[in-house]
Amino acid sequence: MSTVASTPQTLTDKGLGYATHSIGGFTFARDEYFAHIFYPGGRHIMPIDAFLRALMRDVAWGFFYGTVNFDNVFGTVNHYGTVEMFIGLFNDAYRSSNRHHVETFEAKDLKKTFDEMLDDWTLEGFDPFAAPAETGTPFGPKKGGGNKKAITRQRMVANRMVGLKGDLAYRDEKEYPLNRSFQDLPTDQPEVHAEPGFEQDVHAYNFLNYVGRSDVTWNPSVVSCVKDSQFCATTEEHILPITHGNDRVEWFIQASDEIIWDVDDRATGKPRAKVIMKAGDVAAMPADIRHRGYSPKRSILIVWENNDATLPQQYASGKLTPYPVEF
Ligand SMILES: [Fe+2]
Repeated sequence: MSTVASTPQTLTDKGLGYATHSIGGFTFARDEYFAHIFYPGGRHIMPIDAFLRALMRDVAWGFFYGTVNFDNVFGTVNHYGTVEMFIGLFNDAYRSSNRHHVETFEAKDLKKTFDEMLDDWTLEGFDPFAAPAETGTPFGPKKGGGNKKAITRQRMVANRMVGLKGDLAYRDEKEYPLNRSFQDLPTDQPEVHAEPGFEQDVHAYNFLNYVGRSDVTWNPSVVSCVKDSQFCATTEEHILPITHGNDRVEWFIQASDEIIWDVDDRATGKPRAKVIMKAGDVAAMPADIRHRGYSPKRSILIVWENNDATLPQQYASGKLTPYPVEF
């Protein structure tokens, strides 16, 4: 029994083995079950499993496109060089009562703090990239040597296309076994019959056999790249660990199974739509929303990203409509 309210100091003094991590006015502390976020004017709390899964994506994606909401209060906004870390910036209640808090950091400085916190707080046996059913527990006091191998995975990015000479290799059974949910996928290779002289320009591979071997969830690999057009294939299971606030239109192609999406207003978090995507469905997520997906069974999603660096400004200034087509 204790009558003392928790502070970063008392949390550290509990002897659980975790350090506190600070940058600017923010201090992060963890205990058995929670991440505690202290900031000028208040404090916030998140379940440690959800926090570590979100932190893993934010770090691995280099703060991603637009906003990475860890939940409906805390997150980061990428300004591609600098990053804003915020409390309540995209939350109507925080904003209208002026309780939000925002600080801007150099991306490399914030990444360093996040990397250290992720390394310190991830227990041996817990992989924040894995589906909950495929990894150990994130709860309890610090034990073991952490899980550096899992948290330093490099995102797989094809220069042109998977399987081309000198580009990303196919995934083999030994290192990347076909996931338990995709045992029924065809694994045969397509036949390519190029006209003489075009052998270097024509290429095809079994996409399902490549993606079905991904050992991570909600972490896109870039499988083909033509100028700013990036095809990012990913396997999804359980919940997208962040709520992504777009700064550009993002296309989704559901290649297998089903994902149910919550789509909310990007600025306020007010619900806008529930989108149920079944295999074969295509959707364009507008540039003024945030979205979080739920995948009851591991499924394959293709995310088509436009990497054009001028897009955020074009949407923000109203030059482009937040949706790509009019019907
Ligand atoms: Fe997204």
